[in-house]
Amino acid sequence: MSHADDHEGTRRDFLYYAAAGAGAVTTGAAVWPLVNQMNPSADVRALASIRVDVSSLEVGSQLTVKWLGKPVFIRRRTEEEIADARNVDLSTLIDGVARNANIDAAADAADENRAMDEAGEWLVQMGVCTHLGCVPLDNAGEYTANGVGGWFCPCHGSHYDTSGRIRKGPAPENLPVPPAEFVDETTIKLG
Ligand code: FES
Repeated sequence: MSHADDHEGTRRDFLYYAAAGAGAVTTGAAVWPLVNQMNPSADVRALASIRVDVSSLEVGSQLTVKWLGKPVFIRRRTEEEIADARNVDLSTLIDGVARNANIDAAADAADENRAMDEAGEWLVQMGVCTHLGCVPLDNAGEYTANGVGGWFCPCHGSHYDTSGRIRKGPAPENLPVPPAEFVDETTIKLG
């Protein structure tokens, strides 16, 4: 074997080992996210629960915050929005289930089972259309209280009423209410 062949062989071995090494690194990187998901880091755990200051939210307006990467609508409803939401024959609803993570999963879709407080002023729900996941527009659609409240998803035309219940269009379910509670008079905790 000449010195040249010897050198060539060494170089090939080196390339082989380098490639094998790179493969091992790639495998390691691919496995990591799975391990990471099973043991959420402190930041992920912190993000699973957020506190929102709602002190500046006016009656008849909405605050959109991001929670777990998704929009959440926090709405402070007018008397008319509440009255419209409560004056509905439940048998006419497309989805008769409350979809409220804070109460019994079988509870019906009465507005009282979706609003945060007894008076119904506060409504918190995911801002994600249950059809294909678009973000619905507020104060829009065919089920507003004289142009206030209600949501409309222009993607394929889903109309949600002032309680966030699907009333018309392809979306199959009401906008879900996430785990939410007032931790003091002006702070809502999500998650
Ligand atoms: S995503 Fe809302 S109607 Fe299609």
